Amino acid sequence: MVEAERMRVSVIGTGYLGATTAACLAELGFEVIGLDVDEAKIDLLRSGKVPFYEPGLDELLTESLQTGRLHFTTDFAEVAEFADLHLICVGTPQRDESGAADLKYVNAAIDSLAPHLTRPTVVVGRSTVPVGTAATLAARLAALAPIGEEAELGWSPEFLREGFGVEDTLRPNRIVIGTDSPRVEKAVRALWQQQVDEGVPFLVTDLQTAELVKVSANAFLATKISFINAMAEVSEVAGADVIQLAEALSYDDRIGGKFLGPGLGFGGGCLPKDIRAFMARADELGVEPALSFLREVDAINQRRRARTTDIARQLIGGNFAGRTVTVLGAAFKPNSDDIRDSPALDVASTIASLGAHVTVYDPAALERAREAHPELNYATSMLDAARGADVVLLLTEWAEFREANPEELATVVAQKRIVDGRNALDPTYWRASGWTYRALGRQ
Ligand SMILES: NC(=O)c1ccc[n+]([C@@H]2O[C@H](COP(=O)([O-])OP(=O)(O)OC[C@H]3O[C@@H](n4cnc5c(N)ncnc54)[C@H](O)[C@@H]3O)[C@@H](O)[C@H]2O)c1
Repeated sequence: MVEAERMRVSVIGTGYLGATTAACLAELGFEVIGLDVDEAKIDLLRSGKVPFYEPGLDELLTESLQTGRLHFTTDFAEVAEFADLHLICVGTPQRDESGAADLKYVNAAIDSLAPHLTRPTVVVGRSTVPVGTAATLAARLAALAPIGEEAELGWSPEFLREGFGVEDTLRPNRIVIGTDSPRVEKAVRALWQQQVDEGVPFLVTDLQTAELVKVSANAFLATKISFINAMAEVSEVAGADVIQLAEALSYDDRIGGKFLGPGLGFGGGCLPKDIRAFMARADELGVEPALSFLREVDAINQRRRARTTDIARQLIGGNFAGRTVTVLGAAFKPNSDDIRDSPALDVASTIASLGAHVTVYDPAALERAREAHPELNYATSMLDAARGADVVLLLTEWAEFREANPEELATVVAQKRIVDGRNALDPTYWRASGWTYRALGRQ
């Protein structure tokens, strides 16, 4: 733990980002209060239960609660009284068909907090917002706070990855703070002093650049995934193998191998909505052509879902009606129970809508999936899910599925047919066990 000055910190919005942030900051030694408008979520957190799946967070939350450094509330007056630094971590979902970000939660958080700010205070946004939002919120904060301009707002985008949230928060790869206020910069520096001392880059920018860092990082990552998936489309018709192609590309360190895995593509609560919100904002700013390539990035990504469905349909003879289909995976990625814009569930519900009896299994996301997609069937183990299947689709690359034993699975299915939507299995091994194996981007 650092010996630096200890601020009292509030974390407003305790979802994936906020709950992880609150527990990690308490672990680092800060006095932390987490606030959410969702009382059920706050009750769970108070009782030491994380309302979602994030490896390592349960233990950290329990430890932090025991130290007495971490509390939860639903009362804005209490957090205003308690903390000197407020971190805004509320959601910024996609608004509608326009793709623009819905800012009602960030606006509401500022509107609820500001009237209680009667002493000089720093508010730092961590949610992902369209460029230009923070400047508007800074003015809104100063106008509504009794302390006026002494309630200052900066923006510090968050780069944590679900599934690695604790690790990424305790050891971020960079810290960016958008502000021109020495007080805001000092507060954020104090928050991450230990990390900065350990060599984590600390970048101070203007508000707009800080906002852009996050959305452009996500746009780049989405583009890289869709790039290799476009190569998968070409490979399929040209008779090439996209896995070998990706490996050969990865040895060029200007390209690198990360985010170059061909498959069903990206989903989740960040990349899809962030690239759409980025395009919508570019449109508003009159620079729509600059980001028009992201439309294609999004389209390539959606096409992978359709292609996966097509491959499965071909495998069972052209018609899903009355067939039994197993989907392995519901979360948008492994080590998470987040099903927001999950490619796996999208494909599963498309196949169900075409008349198949679809059974889904996921190690962590079953409950959420069941709630969101009651039209699907669910099983509590891979083998149960695969019983009687005419085709099995692997759509989220959990280790449990990567390590599946083809001979064991063969004992329960009706037909040994598998679509490897994540290129997670060894085709030679599965074919040797008598399976018909199909994957995206390969022959
Ligand atoms: N999930 C991630 O891995 C991740 C990573 C980086 C950035 N982000 C960004 O962080 C933000 C939050 O994402 P998330 O995944 O944690 O979302 P989430 O939906 O899991 O959590 C948002 C929380 O905010 C709460 N909330 C809504 N309005 C509120 C208000 N007025 N006051 C207090 N709480 C309120 C909700 O009840 C919810 O618990 C988004 O902008 C997202 O793009 C997320």
